[in-house]
Amino acid sequence: GFPEKVTIIEVGPRDGLQNEKNFVPTEKKINFIKKLKEAGLSEIEITSFVSPKWVPQMKDASTVADTFQPDTCRNIVLVPNQKGLEKALQANCRSVALFIGVSNTFNQKNINKNTKEAVQTLLPLIQQLKQQECFIRTCISTAFYCPYEGKIHERDVLALCESFVKAGVNELSVADTIGMANPKDVFSLFSKLKQNFPHTLLAAHFHDTRGLAIANIYAALQAGINRFDSSAGGLGGCPFAKGATGNVATEDLVFMLHEMDISTSINEEKLLEAVAFIAPHISRPIESKQYSLFAQR
Ligand code: HMG
Ligand code: MG
Repeated sequence: GFPEKVTIIEVGPRDGLQNEKNFVPTEKKINFIKKLKEAGLSEIEITSFVSPKWVPQMKDASTVADTFQPDTCRNIVLVPNQKGLEKALQANCRSVALFIGVSNTFNQKNINKNTKEAVQTLLPLIQQLKQQECFIRTCISTAFYCPYEGKIHERDVLALCESFVKAGVNELSVADTIGMANPKDVFSLFSKLKQNFPHTLLAAHFHDTRGLAIANIYAALQAGINRFDSSAGGLGGCPFAKGATGNVATEDLVFMLHEMDISTSINEEKLLEAVAFIAPHISRPIESKQYSLFAQR
């Protein structure tokens, strides 16, 4: 059966904005995050401590993170290396997302390291985060398909996940980076993840490049997954993954879940107001179904 309740991890302020060409003013980012909290989002990726040369949009990470001191919402920041971790801890962050792809070529383009080198970089960070009693999420990119290497084998995803589970992370967020997954493969992989890692929180992260994100979420729900990453307005995409477009829109996901009598903590109307707030600062039209209906009212 389906879960009674689903938790949504809002990734718009991070995955959504990182891909925007024009710099979104820091104050707008902060107010966007505040509106998402008001809409009831309880876990939000608020920014990432990455190189400003690589991702100029995230150059204000310290200011954004400083604004959101630990509260009832899990404020998550992404970190790629020791330098990012130090900046995150300086800003008093308590929830950190590490990120790595299964594919060597993707990692080389995204973080300038191959998969093995990336694991070696991240494992020592986990020890420090555990000492600090931080919540540790790990985003596993290209878990189905890599824009450079093609189809990814399940065994490689499971092996990479296992090294992070063994190191003691709290959560794995397993991602279809460029929207190439299909419901059959999603059901298969998430069923195995659940079986292999029963004590780790498991989230599914779908980009909607080919319109299959909602179908993939349905398949993951059937595999027993009750945590989903999504982005308000369907913003998003990784600048170093050729062909990546937005994440599944939070408002479309919440609509489906509520229609299925699956509860979330989210108020649909307030969520649409958060999307309306950020829309003028985004260089492309917002194309989610729910926001289009809202804008026509
Ligand atoms: P590098 O050039 O190999 O790093 O980049 P480096 O250690 O040689 O440092 C180069 C410069 O960057 C130095 O500055 C460092 O100080 C600075 P300089 O001396 O030249 O002035 N630097 C930093 N500055 C701030 N924060 C840091 C940091 N580290 C170094 N943490 C690096 C390696 C990882 C830094 C770089 O490749 C990078 O920043 N990559 C970011 C990639 C990224 O943000 N991708 C998007 C997020 S992942 C994603 O979207 C996928 C996901 O959504 C799931 C999915 O959909 O698949 C999560
Ligand atoms: Mg993503």
